[in-house]
Amino acid sequence: MSEIKRIGVMTGGGDCSGLNAVVRAVTLTAINKYGCEVIGFKKGYAGLYANDYIELTAENTANILNQGGTILKNSNKDNLFNYAYRDENGNIQHKDVSDVAVQNLKDLNIDALVVIGGDGTLTSARDFARKGVKVIGVPKTIDNDVSYADITFGFTTALGVICNAVDRVRTTAYSHDRVQILEVMGRNCGWLALEGGLSGGADVILLPEIPYDINKIVEVIKNRDAKGLYDTVIVVSEGAKPKDGDVVIKKIVADSADTVRLGGIGDQLASQLEALLGGKEVRATNIGHTQRGGETCQYDRSLCTKLGSLAVDALFEGCSGEMVTIYNAVPQTVSLEKVLGSGATGETSKGGSHNVDPNGFVVKTARNTGISFGD
Ligand code: F6P
Repeated sequence: MSEIKRIGVMTGGGDCSGLNAVVRAVTLTAINKYGCEVIGFKKGYAGLYANDYIELTAENTANILNQGGTILKNSNKDNLFNYAYRDENGNIQHKDVSDVAVQNLKDLNIDALVVIGGDGTLTSARDFARKGVKVIGVPKTIDNDVSYADITFGFTTALGVICNAVDRVRTTAYSHDRVQILEVMGRNCGWLALEGGLSGGADVILLPEIPYDINKIVEVIKNRDAKGLYDTVIVVSEGAKPKDGDVVIKKIVADSADTVRLGGIGDQLASQLEALLGGKEVRATNIGHTQRGGETCQYDRSLCTKLGSLAVDALFEGCSGEMVTIYNAVPQTVSLEKVLGSGATGETSKGGSHNVDPNGFVVKTARNTGISFGD
C-alpha cells in the first residue's frame, strides 16, 4: 500500500493554454488509478501559503480539456522562499515563508504535490523538495525554453496563433505594399519567432540568439521591392536585439521573481525602418497575450494528458524533486536540480537555457528557403 492518499496540484507563473488539460489528467489518474483525493491550490504558491484550495473531482474537471487559462488561477509573484511584501512605508521587502506552506501541507494531510509551471515555479518546487516535500514538476511555457524537454506544452498552441497572425498580416501587407512587423513573445528565447515565422512563411525573422543589423533588413526589403514583391513580413521576438544594442524593456514588475517584461521592439523597429526606407510604410503589431490564451490545440491536449498522468505515476513510483518530460522522444523524469541548476534556495533560476542554436537545423532550413535573420 502506498502512503500517498491525498495529492495537491497547482498552476504557477504566467499561464499558457494546456494548464487545465494537465490538471484534469492529474485528477483523473489520481482518482481512477490510485483512489486518491486531489486538492487544487488557487493561484499557485499564493494558495499554498494562504490555504486557499478546492477539492478536484472527475466532475469539476470535466469539459476543461480544451479550455485555455486555468480553473486554479495563476500568480507569478509568489516565491515563498523569497516572498515579496510591502513594509509599513510601502517599500518592497522579502522574507522566507516556506515553512508556513510546509505546515499547511501537513495540516491538510497532503502527501505529495504536483507543481505545473515554468522555471520560477519549478525552482520553488526544487526548493520544497530540498525541504523534504514530495513534489513532482510539470514544465509549462509558451517560450519552449526549458532544458530536457523536447517541446513544452502551450508552445504548439501559441505557434498556431502566430502562424495565423502571419497569414493575416501578409494579406494586408500585400494590399498596401507595406512592411508588416509581428512582435511575438518568448523572453530571451527565439523558438516562438523561429517556428512561428517558418510556418507562416515570414521573410525576416529576428531572434535573441542572432543579433541583427538593421541595414541588412533594409537590404532584404529593397531586394524584394526590386523583384516586385512589395510586401515584406518580419517576425520579431520580443527579446531580439541589434548587434550594437540591447533588448527593449516594456516594464519592470518590482514584486515579481523575474522583474523584467520585454516588449516594444516591433514599434521601435517600425520607426527605424520607415526612416531608412524613404517613403515605404511600415506597421507593427504585437500579438502579446493572445499567444497564451484560447483553446488548446490537439497536440497540446495530448501532451498535457500524457504529462499529467505521468506525474501521478512518477509520484507513486517514489519520485520526488523531479520533472516529468518527453525528452528525445522518451517519456521520463529528470531531476529538477539538473534542469534548473543547483542555485541557492529561493534564488529563482532565470531559465531560458534551452535556446535556439544559430547553426542548428531549423535556422538552416529557414535560410535555405530564403528567410533572412538580419545578420
Ligand atoms: O514566459 C512566458 C511569457 O509569456 C513570456 O513570453 C513573456 O515575456 C512573459 O511571459 C509575459 O509575462 P506577463 O504575463 O507578466 O506579461
